[in-house]
Amino acid sequence: MEELGKSYLPRMRFPKRAVDKEKCAKCGRCMEACPTGGFVAGPDGFPVPVGYGGFEAACINCWNCVAMCPAGAISLDGAFSIEEGPYKNRLTGNMSYPAPLLGDGRPYAELEPELTEVERVIYKRRSNRIYKKKPVSRELLHRVIEAGRFAPSAGNNQPVKVLVITDQSLISEIEEGAMKVLKLFKNLYLEKSGRRKAWKSGLFAALTLFMTGKTDPRPFTAMEKADQDKGVIYWRAPAVIMLLKNTRGIANPDLDCGICAQNMVLAAHSLGLGTCYIGLPMEPLGYPQNAKLRRKLGIVPPWQAVTSIAVGWPKGKIDAVVKRDSFPVEWK
Ligand SMILES: Cc1cc2nc3c(=O)[nH]c(=O)nc-3n(C[C@H](O)[C@H](O)[C@H](O)COP(=O)(O)O)c2cc1C
Repeated sequence: MEELGKSYLPRMRFPKRAVDKEKCAKCGRCMEACPTGGFVAGPDGFPVPVGYGGFEAACINCWNCVAMCPAGAISLDGAFSIEEGPYKNRLTGNMSYPAPLLGDGRPYAELEPELTEVERVIYKRRSNRIYKKKPVSRELLHRVIEAGRFAPSAGNNQPVKVLVITDQSLISEIEEGAMKVLKLFKNLYLEKSGRRKAWKSGLFAALTLFMTGKTDPRPFTAMEKADQDKGVIYWRAPAVIMLLKNTRGIANPDLDCGICAQNMVLAAHSLGLGTCYIGLPMEPLGYPQNAKLRRKLGIVPPWQAVTSIAVGWPKGKIDAVVKRDSFPVEWK
C-alpha cells in the first residue's frame, strides 16, 4: 500500500491500483469516471494511477474504475484508511464482495439467482459519472420521485422538497456557485508544491476542530477533480434532483431526506438509469456568496439543501458488483 504522511494532511493509506496493459484498450473511461481524478493518460496512452495537489495517491477506494472498465484491466489491492487525527476511520479493512447469505462462501455470481430483485439492484448499483446526452423523460423522472414519496419518515412528517433541474444553464450556475466557495477551501488545503506552509497548517488544524467531517481529505480530492474538469460537478448529467429539508421538520429531517433519496436512487437503477449523489455543492450553497442563487432555486427558509442526485442514461455498463470495506458489526 502506498502511504502518505505529509504536511498537514493526515496519515493515509491508499489501495494499490494497477492497470493490466495486456487487457487495457485505452478507452479512457477510468480517467473520465474516477471521482478524484486518480488516473491520467501516460505517454503510451495507458492510464496511470496518480496523486496530485499534495496527495501521493488520489483514490477513495470506490472501485468505480474497476466497475466500469469494459476490459477488466484495473485491479485494486488494499483498503483506504486514515490512520490518525479527527478523520481516523473505523473500518475493518476487510475488502469483500457482497455475501448476504450467512455462512455461504460461494462467489456473488453463483448466489445471485437466489437473491431478490431489490437485493440485486442494491449490490449492483454504482455511482455513474459518464452520461449520454439523451434527456430523461418527465415520466421517468416522476416515476423516480414517486419512489421517494413513499419512503418512510419520522412521524410520517415528509420534511422534504424536491427540485428537478433539467435546465443545463441552471445546473452550470449551481456548479459555478459551488466552485466559488470550494476553491477557497481547496486552496487552503491542497498545496500544489507539496511544501508545508505553517500558517495554512495551523489554520487548517484549527478548522478541523470545529468542522470535523467537513474538512475531511476525501472531498478535497473531488474538488481538485472538479477544478481540473473546468468546474464540472454534475458530470454533465441531463437531470439533477435536489432534496431540500424542512428545517422545522421533526426528529431528523436530514435522515428523512437521505432515506427518500435512496428510494429514488434504487428506483432509478431498477429502471436502467444511472445516478450519482452529488454532495459537493450543498455546503457552498449555504454560503453568503450564493444568496441570490438560493433565492432563484427557491432554497429559502424553512428549506435547506441536503443532497442532490445526478440522473441520466449511463454511457456503457456501469452497474456491477465490487468489493467493499466492512464497517464493524457487533451482535449483542
Ligand atoms: C451524500 C453523498 C454525497 C456524495 N457526493 C458526491 C459528489 O459530490 N461527487 C461525486 O462524484 N460522488 C459523490 N458521492 C458518491 C460517492 O463517492 C460514492 O457513493 C462512493 O464512492 C461509493 O461508490 P458507489 O456509489 O459507486 O458504490 C456522494 C455520495 C453520497 C452518499
